Amino acid sequence: MIRFGIICLLGMIGGAFTSNTTEPVSAWMNGSAPVQVEEERQPGQDAEKVKLPVLPKDTLPADLKLGQVPDGLDSIPQAPKENPLTLAKVNLGRKLFFDPVLSENNTVSCASCHQPEFGFADNNKLAVGINGKVGSRNSPTLLNRVYGESFFWDGRSESLENQALKPIESEIELGSSVEAAVERLQKKENYPNLFRAAFQDDKDPVNAMNLAKALAAFQRTLLLGNSPVDQFQSANYSALTDQERQGLWIYESRGGCWQCHSGANYSDEGFHNTGVGYGGESRDAGLEEHSGQPGDRFKFKTPTLRGVFSTAPYFHDGSAKTLEEVVEFYSKGGHPQDERLDGKMKVLNLSEDDKKHLVAFLKALSRE
Ligand code: HEC
Ligand code: HEC
Repeated sequence: MIRFGIICLLGMIGGAFTSNTTEPVSAWMNGSAPVQVEEERQPGQDAEKVKLPVLPKDTLPADLKLGQVPDGLDSIPQAPKENPLTLAKVNLGRKLFFDPVLSENNTVSCASCHQPEFGFADNNKLAVGINGKVGSRNSPTLLNRVYGESFFWDGRSESLENQALKPIESEIELGSSVEAAVERLQKKENYPNLFRAAFQDDKDPVNAMNLAKALAAFQRTLLLGNSPVDQFQSANYSALTDQERQGLWIYESRGGCWQCHSGANYSDEGFHNTGVGYGGESRDAGLEEHSGQPGDRFKFKTPTLRGVFSTAPYFHDGSAKTLEEVVEFYSKGGHPQDERLDGKMKVLNLSEDDKKHLVAFLKALSRE
């Protein structure tokens, strides 16, 4: 892991804290509040009683600065040549991200499912989109996706640019078409000016490609690092409590977590069948759905563990409500009966103390 000497609360975002604001990440993530998990709903459910999506306000620091990496994270990969990171683009992407204008009826934004206070995920079991329609998967965090190699639980998008327009067209997310969204932007307030400022060389800057580029650029600034675990690993041995240290040890040793949640972002960016969803009716095929390879059946992308306390419920199907449930799941070895289970999954039989320590470690990874 590459270590950086820069002390920075929130990376690029943290870099934006001016001297009069020293709020930690918990100011906009509910790092310690009890997590409220929405009641279960069924995919495709569209009943009258269903709650509509929320429209979170932009609670991020006023100005986002680029180029700083929080302690513990690797250096940031170069943005694609055709989409260099600029402040004008990031700010435009930020405005778009929180703006329901991208949805067909002005009621859903990207932030509805990727809420700052829930670590850019949400607290629903399954994503809730336009008119309260329920999707088939849990909303993942957008933190540290600049390190991502593929996107979605099944990796079907190869870049943030490629991913960005898909929710707009999804009939259970923003429920619009990209063309219609672009038309609305061409007519709305100062968007034409903002696009012009961000894409100065373009004659007709309010277009689908630039919309995708701006959303991708903004998401590349959502970084979380500098946890007590990182401080501990840079030799500040008092940063972790005994319990958290024990938990780190289990993660690194007999827990085997490090094999998949590896590297500075606690993800190998690979795909595994951990047994989540085993035994359920019409089990989600995961990676196979997009690769067409039967060997990929039930494999899902390894999520980061950074910020994980804020993003409950867990797993691609939202089937674990708490970190305690996740740890219990791993202690039992996922679902050992699943003949397609990843070979790295083992029955761990953790003691009650082990489980507490592992949860304490995961919470420490979510604090600053
Ligand atoms: C209705 C809820 C909802 C809305 C609205 C929504 N998303 Fe998502 N997002 C999801 C879900 C669910 C997934 C995972 C879907 C899957 O894997 O099939 C996802 C996945 C992603 C990913 C991939 C993350 C990863 O780890 O691979 C990115 C990036 C993303 N969304 C960005 C956006 C952007 C940008 C917008 C707005 C244009 C948006 N989302 C709107 C629910 C939503
Ligand atoms: C074989 C690889 C592998 C191993 C070993 C592994 N994980 Fe995972 N982990 C994954 C994958 C893949 C997912 C997503 C599974 C899904 O949703 O279907 C996941 C999901 C999670 C989640 C939920 C994250 C979220 O955002 O929903 C947590 C927390 C987690 N793992 C913690 C651990 C801990 C703690 C250990 C060790 C006891 C561990 N993992 C071992 C691959 C692994």
